[in-house]
Amino acid sequence: DAVVDIDLTHLAPGQQVETVWRGHPVFVVHRTQDALQALQTSELQRRLRDPVSAEHQQPDYAVNWHRSIVPEYGVMVGVCTHLGCIPRFRPTVDLAAPGGYACPCHGSRFDLAGRVFAGAPAPYNLPVPPHTLVTPTHLRIG
Ligand code: FES
Repeated sequence: DAVVDIDLTHLAPGQQVETVWRGHPVFVVHRTQDALQALQTSELQRRLRDPVSAEHQQPDYAVNWHRSIVPEYGVMVGVCTHLGCIPRFRPTVDLAAPGGYACPCHGSRFDLAGRVFAGAPAPYNLPVPPHTLVTPTHLRIG
């Protein structure tokens, strides 16, 4: 569909819902406060290939540290930028393993903002699709 509407009311912190937009899986994740803190640490930034998303795999309004409209909700196209497998959700958040996504095909890892870790075969961060918040709990993708 050109537009997909998601009700965020029942998406608890730490949970993710997966939808399909224009034939691609799209992840919508409700990031916890711990996850938001982890995304901003310099320890994590140093381990990322493109921590500020200079490669612009997101709309202009998502050029920020959380790569979305509001920090709590992340929206990412769930297609690995290496060869197109679907990364798996790894929500655990601690400093050793800050949570995010792991690609089952060749091991690329992404954080909870879809930013790829250095050394992974995936060349870019996960793309962010166009999205709007119609209300604080009504997300529209597309
Ligand atoms: Fe994801 Fe190769 S397709 S690492």
